[in-house]
Amino acid sequence: MYKEKDLINKIIKGDAIEELRKIPDETIDLIFADPPYFMQTDGILLRTDGTKFSGVEDEWDKFNGYNEYDEFCFNWLKECKRVLKKNGSIWVIGSFQNIYRLGYIMQNLGYWILNDIIWSKPNAAPNFSGTRFKNSHETLLWCTKDKNAKYTFNYKTMKHLNNDKQDKSVWDIGICIGNERIKGEDGKKLHSTQKPEKLLYKVILSSSKPGDLVLDPFFGTGTTGAISKMLNRNFLGIEREENYVNAAQKRIDGVIPIDDDIINLKLEVKPPKVPMKKLIESGLLKVGDNLYDKNKIICDTVTEDGNVSDGNDILSIHKMSAKHKGLTNNNGWDYYWIEDLKYGFIELDRLRYIYEGGYSNE
Ligand SMILES: C[S@@+](CC[C@H](N)C(=O)[O-])C[C@H]1O[C@@H](n2cnc3c(N)ncnc32)[C@H](O)[C@@H]1O
Repeated sequence: MYKEKDLINKIIKGDAIEELRKIPDETIDLIFADPPYFMQTDGILLRTDGTKFSGVEDEWDKFNGYNEYDEFCFNWLKECKRVLKKNGSIWVIGSFQNIYRLGYIMQNLGYWILNDIIWSKPNAAPNFSGTRFKNSHETLLWCTKDKNAKYTFNYKTMKHLNNDKQDKSVWDIGICIGNERIKGEDGKKLHSTQKPEKLLYKVILSSSKPGDLVLDPFFGTGTTGAISKMLNRNFLGIEREENYVNAAQKRIDGVIPIDDDIINLKLEVKPPKVPMKKLIESGLLKVGDNLYDKNKIICDTVTEDGNVSDGNDILSIHKMSAKHKGLTNNNGWDYYWIEDLKYGFIELDRLRYIYEGGYSNE
């Protein structure tokens, strides 16, 4: 059995199932698994100009039929479930050849699917023979150990990075090309399925916290390790091919961690719990003050009991903002704005930070 210190920022060279079995129960916060696809490609694929297209023909992708592939996947997925913390989560990526098998096995093992993300590739390779549609996506299953897990999802951060719109389950990210693609001594791509850094950035940033331990049991060129280090998370990789292990280590050694508010999840910090009455007591808000919507079309007034009046009803800020929006519930802190002598036209919510001493106008 490995000790915890053997697992932090390490690449283990070996077989995924054997090595996973040596990891203690519930030690991992997040797993990203990019297993062999069992592509079953035979023959040579030719581009339209007659040159050979190098797809996935590697020995590590070969199995003697579905029974062997399913047994292999059952075993590593079972071990992943054991080593994952109660509230951790796992991402498994695959293509049409294997993703349905993986999803079936995962559901049978009790995993709870949160999303199936479509990784849409604007620069996917064509279907050279013109016999099918161009295959331009892969699927990621994002799952917890069970339905009740309190997993990490950095919702506000992802919304912020998506132009302040709720992020969706189709991700447009180009396949890994150019300088990002790791080359062997012959100058050719070292690995046939190196994943783009942007994909791992999104996976790791959305579902982990700084300092978390991220496991990748099929490490390849170490994309998971490189991005974990960049985002101030720890990594553990398992990979059985020595040349990939060496390339991954070299790659990770060259990564400089980023330290900013996005990576440190500053947007996820819960607002201070300060009720309206406290704001009135402190003088930050006065009875009779006007509260507006952000376009200054609606104007309500603050009442003595910490509610608001629209001239007809006296309601809480939540109920009144819901009334204006024709909804049953709404968050009044995000709805109302005030004209403040010192800070100008600001969200009502800001007053709670000012009350706590944590808001500056700079
Ligand atoms: C699809 S690739 C992963 C690529 C990786 N995500 C990247 O960005 O470079 C799968 C990797 O799993 C490795 N592999 C296959 N079977 C394995 C096993 N039983 N144990 C450990 N590694 C294995 C292969 O050598 C290959 O590098």
